[in-house]
Amino acid sequence: MITINEHYLKLQASYLFSDIARRVAAFQEANPGREVIRLGIGDVTRALPKACIEAFHKAVDEMADDSTFRGYGPEQGYSFLREAIARHDFQARGAEVAPDEVFVSDGAKCDTGNIQELFAAGIRVAIPDPVYPVYLDTNVMAGRTGSFSDGRYQGIVYLESTRENNYVPDLPAERVDLIYLCFPNNPTGSTITREQLATWVQYARDHRALILFDAAYAAFIRDDALPQSIYEIQGAREVAVEFRSFSKNAGFTGTRCAYTVVPRECMAYDAAGGRHALHGLWNRRHSTKFNGVSYPVQRAAEAVYSEEGKAQIRELVDYYMQNAALIAEVIGGLGFHSVGGKNAPYIWIGSDRDSWQFFDQLLNEAGVVCTPGAGFGRCGRGYIRLSAFNSRANVEKAMERLRRALG
Ligand code: MLT
Repeated sequence: MITINEHYLKLQASYLFSDIARRVAAFQEANPGREVIRLGIGDVTRALPKACIEAFHKAVDEMADDSTFRGYGPEQGYSFLREAIARHDFQARGAEVAPDEVFVSDGAKCDTGNIQELFAAGIRVAIPDPVYPVYLDTNVMAGRTGSFSDGRYQGIVYLESTRENNYVPDLPAERVDLIYLCFPNNPTGSTITREQLATWVQYARDHRALILFDAAYAAFIRDDALPQSIYEIQGAREVAVEFRSFSKNAGFTGTRCAYTVVPRECMAYDAAGGRHALHGLWNRRHSTKFNGVSYPVQRAAEAVYSEEGKAQIRELVDYYMQNAALIAEVIGGLGFHSVGGKNAPYIWIGSDRDSWQFFDQLLNEAGVVCTPGAGFGRCGRGYIRLSAFNSRANVEKAMERLRRALG
């Protein structure tokens, strides 16, 4: 008899964004004439930068000629891309990262979901609340939690991000082994200072814990005093893995390219306390289960770091951040508390309504799709998230509709 992994039965009915997509599809079916503006899932809407497209085309042409054709590439990524990443995203900011510590992949979602495979079933996991659901769901699938009740899984240490702590969680009161942090934060759009991040690094060092630092939105940081990488913090190389993505800064959500940094000094332990480099373990996993990102996509990603690519990306990010500023202004003007939108493309909006009711109200009365905060965890109840990823015209129209529906 084929039996299932029963931990899957503990999961909530469906992945948050699939759930929202289903509700929106039902609304559209019932209201065929109504135009819906999507400020829900953080999916980019603008075309790939010209520099990326040119590199992409050129690489496709190389694949069309026997003399330049490429078959399997290195699973970890081509050295041209790994070197560009290490130089521009880290060394240029004074953070020590070597090219061979960069693992190119098809998404930060996959990497943040897959990496927990390296750790023992019994570790104590600390996860922010609210949180990008992938961190939590993949630990549920792996059997690190008990059942779900009242918005929480038993066995998880929740790191609450609330208005009271300015959406940056405090250190856990109990000892944990694995810590997920995401800054600029999805969903709240909040940021962490160097000093705050340094306290987490120190905690991890003191407790031989590991931080999984999701920096997929680093390119949206406008305040140069804020850290873009955890490796800007002294001592982080031994205790942190970092995830980055080309999805949001360069519009690669449909093209797929991301990377994970695993420093050579970063250690985890066996039951007897023996030290093991995570670099070797992740390399083993990556090369066994992943066959690399396609050559043309990696060439397109490399172009992000050319002079013209950098300028085009800056323009792209600025465009979305102007949307974010507009959303934050309108929401503030309507009298709602909000955070985010200054160094992140998300605006986290508090209200006295239930967040799914708020979602329904915006959909029905304004034809605007948001993400209900409750889908990100118990601390998201009463909140919704608006994303800045859409055209200016659509954001302006959506804000006009919100003014009418909520004003
Ligand atoms: C989000 O809306 O939270 C993101 O688009 C999800 C993702 O990047 O996978």
